[in-house]
Amino acid sequence: MRKSILALFLVAGLWGWSPILAQSQPPAAQPKQAKAAQSESTPIEAAGHQWWQHAVFYEIYPRSFADSNNDGIGDLPGITSKLDYLKQLGVDAIWITPCYPSPQVDFGYDVSDYEDIDPIYGTLSDFDKLQQDGQQRGIRIIMDLVLNHTSDQHQWFIDSRSSRNSRHRDWYIWRDGKTSPASANAASGTPKQLQPPNNWISLFGGSAWQYDPKTKQYYYHFFFPQQPDLNWRNPAVREAMFDVTRWWYDRGVSGFRLDAVGALFEDPSLHDNPILPGKNAYGDPNMENKYNFNLPEVHDVLKGLRKIADRYDAVLIGETATNNIDQLEQFYGRHNDELQMPMDFLFTDIDKLSPPAFRKQIAAVNATGGWPVYVIGNHDIERSYTRYGDGKHNDAIAKVMAGLYLTLRGTPIMYYGEEIGIEQNDPKSKAAVKDPIGKLGWPYEKGRDGERTPMQWTDKVNAGFSKIRPWLPVSDNYRTHNVASEQKDPNSILRFYEELLALRHTNQALLDGDYVALNENDPNVMSYLRRYKDEAVLVVLNMSAEPQKASFNLLPQGFSAQEAKTLLTTMPEMKDRAGVSAMTLAPFSVYIGEIAGPATHN
Ligand code: GLC
Ligand code: CA
Repeated sequence: MRKSILALFLVAGLWGWSPILAQSQPPAAQPKQAKAAQSESTPIEAAGHQWWQHAVFYEIYPRSFADSNNDGIGDLPGITSKLDYLKQLGVDAIWITPCYPSPQVDFGYDVSDYEDIDPIYGTLSDFDKLQQDGQQRGIRIIMDLVLNHTSDQHQWFIDSRSSRNSRHRDWYIWRDGKTSPASANAASGTPKQLQPPNNWISLFGGSAWQYDPKTKQYYYHFFFPQQPDLNWRNPAVREAMFDVTRWWYDRGVSGFRLDAVGALFEDPSLHDNPILPGKNAYGDPNMENKYNFNLPEVHDVLKGLRKIADRYDAVLIGETATNNIDQLEQFYGRHNDELQMPMDFLFTDIDKLSPPAFRKQIAAVNATGGWPVYVIGNHDIERSYTRYGDGKHNDAIAKVMAGLYLTLRGTPIMYYGEEIGIEQNDPKSKAAVKDPIGKLGWPYEKGRDGERTPMQWTDKVNAGFSKIRPWLPVSDNYRTHNVASEQKDPNSILRFYEELLALRHTNQALLDGDYVALNENDPNVMSYLRRYKDEAVLVVLNMSAEPQKASFNLLPQGFSAQEAKTLLTTMPEMKDRAGVSAMTLAPFSVYIGEIAGPATHN
């Protein structure tokens, strides 16, 4: 079960598979899961709420969304051509993973120019067209900002590595190696007596230090060697990156998803990290990233970025990998002056349908006082359809998960294809792998190709994504799980998403109500109220494969009604109403209903 990769790094060694190599056993086989009319929504803008609190965000991996010029790779005009689809679905903002010029070593997360578009995705005019067409439909654009590192082909780094006195030398992290007669590091062409400045390892395998023979020093890279870390202690770096954000805001973007924020700073005295037992998928020792991850200095940078964002009414979303809720809380800023939307990966990391685990995490994030941000999948995590699926009820389970995270208090970020149930499609052989971490870690780490497969538009060849063979093979379930077929099927996952999102946009309690946990000892049925003044919405999710009974006494919450008026359910027998004192719930089912007021305040 692969967690978000940054989260993995944080507690490397604590998860099952990490010490596997040390024990020299094959990893436990990952259970392969079986293949398993909406009206225009009118957003309600309640006083005191920011646009991003009521918005539904949708992550697009541009290589894989829609291919307009049939070269097998998705592009910006492809996205533009699907805006009506996104509108119909109920999306208010799209986050596009990096589409800047890039050598594509890490498929765009290695940026060689922050103020342009990579030709494989189109041009700046294509971007402007996407932005304008989006605006006409009320869909905003969020860019992905890779702050921690650039590509080694970025002009800044090309200059930096050219000489020890170059203008950009100090924009990256250069250090002398350690001289130790005992160590021979001849393999990489490094002089025999030299070894890396310290023991830090890269998240993507091997030492985090790369020797550069030209100037005879090492540079630091938290990710691939082709992704040298910027030196955020240098004010010029900070200014340059801040300027990048202004440049895009002036072009009309509504915010950024900030990549790998935890990696921005490193301990300047380069203390060795503590080593933990066992080895990771790449054969490196597990370690606690005490001195190179989530250092407090990052908060100052976030405050600076926020000041600029506020001038443009823009939102900052964080890829905030944290060990615990206190760290997550800090990313909001002590005075709510850092990230408006730090993603709660502690929630994402719950990979079982476990009401107790969900309740606990929801309560914890609510208690921070920050506005929660929920995600169940992204381009670094196994597809939610497969991760939560049991192989038999995957479609029903996909609806249960939607019923959960799209009705909670907070902002959801969907991942493209989740709304149709795209399943995980890991490469079948090492030779087929495209993601370099999969090549390096095979077979323990198969890389992230499996969650990045093309969007499934139709049941025709290449799932209607492209006329030629796409850069990654389409997932096996495209014949049944695709937009065209699901639009026609009133019981499809897609139709369920459409109805749920329409509801979410128009129901005041779902938009602004508090979250009140109900029946907290029930191990199978997750239930809660979203309560707004005299209104409440009851959400009941059977997270088990068995029918369950549930009974609600809402008097303590101030509601005396015995019946709920159904808003949306997967159970036809309850399509109009349900008695709340005795409900019988089908396996993996969703019930969402309105509890009529007036509330009897207690
Ligand atoms: C983030 C991205 C991931 C990328 C890495 C390096 O974790 O989500 O895809 O490889 O940063 O930029
Ligand atoms: Ca860094």
